[in-house]
Amino acid sequence: MALGILPTKVLYTLGYKSGHEVACRAVSNTGFKAIATFLMVQINTEEMRSDYMALMSDLKVFNNAEVAIKGWYWALPSKELKKGKIQGLKLLGLDLAIYRGESGKVYAIEAYCPHMGAHFKEGSVEKEGVQCAFHGWKFDEKGECIDIPCLSSSKKQLKMSPLKRYAVAEKYGLIWVNTEPLLEGETTKQAPLPEFKDFAGLDGEKKPEVEYVVGGRTFRPCRPEVVMLNAIDAHHFNTVHPEASSLAKGLNLVPKILSSNAIRLENESALNSDSLLGKLLMPFYRKGNLTYFLDYWYASTGAVTLGPDFMKLYLLFPHRPTLDGGTEGIMVFLSPKLNIPFFGKWIAKFIAWLTGVVGGYFERGDRNIFMSINFSMKAPIKADLPIIEFIRHTENQEFLLINRGK
Ligand code: FES
Ligand SMILES: [Fe+2]
Repeated sequence: MALGILPTKVLYTLGYKSGHEVACRAVSNTGFKAIATFLMVQINTEEMRSDYMALMSDLKVFNNAEVAIKGWYWALPSKELKKGKIQGLKLLGLDLAIYRGESGKVYAIEAYCPHMGAHFKEGSVEKEGVQCAFHGWKFDEKGECIDIPCLSSSKKQLKMSPLKRYAVAEKYGLIWVNTEPLLEGETTKQAPLPEFKDFAGLDGEKKPEVEYVVGGRTFRPCRPEVVMLNAIDAHHFNTVHPEASSLAKGLNLVPKILSSNAIRLENESALNSDSLLGKLLMPFYRKGNLTYFLDYWYASTGAVTLGPDFMKLYLLFPHRPTLDGGTEGIMVFLSPKLNIPFFGKWIAKFIAWLTGVVGGYFERGDRNIFMSINFSMKAPIKADLPIIEFIRHTENQEFLLINRGK
């Protein structure tokens, strides 16, 4: 494709400084090829328009209620599962029992006992395993049946497959479950958990201690990928969140593929010196650009970083698809613990709470729109570029069919 024919001004507005640089990046960066393709859509050639339409007309993952991307999904807030307790969880059509062993570690297993199908949530936790309530069979943390009370001691173990187990992790105040069953001998999955760049301990930096406030659950009758568009839809900030949008001279979110399951969208536009708030905040932005960047994981969990250098706000919004094509979400607001004796923890908690107020403002702004949207983008414009890149990235992720129990 002849990138040189694209007007320099158009390229520059997307954050690329010269046609030469564009050409180099186009060779090495498949993400950029997509951007260029999109620009061609903007210059309105029939060929490129049909390229875009082909992407949209053959979506296998994005906005498909039959599938879910393989990976980590939020299960429940950590504090809702006490030591020695067990509860049922439906996740992407999987029936699970999730429990916290006596050591404090959390486990997720298939929900129904292999003997006669009683749900383990009616049973009890035994050390790091479970005991079924119906006939008292016991299973250890590897899912092996270790006791059948009514059998004589010589026959207490039957030859049977272990229970299906799933990898579990706790992070940012939530319990997360991986969609792929653990294989024999495995204790977790290699796929990375959603995280914030600033908290990841990159480049040898020590991971900061983080305080968080877990917000309420949300429900939307549309798919997680559609709900996720909200924070990368630069266009809608002008209309739905005008107070926030007045801070920057137009959001310019530049996509960057982090991995097959993660994409980053980073703002490259300056603060708006015409707004009073923009003027006041300008000294607190080192790069001069409004800090607004998002990492999207598994097309269902977003980690948003927002605000001036002296007090960045961190919002996590994990979602999971429901069987009826909707989305269950929960919000978590975070702040690194400050290095102030005694008060550091509480100030961080307060900042996390304040972040929740900001999160509530954004959530309320378009709640009704996402309660009734029937997503279909037939007429994209340049401002929709981040959305198109997100859709393209979503399409390339591995997925599983949602089990509807048919
Ligand atoms: S159904 Fe679980 S022990 Fe019988
Ligand atoms: Fe919004």
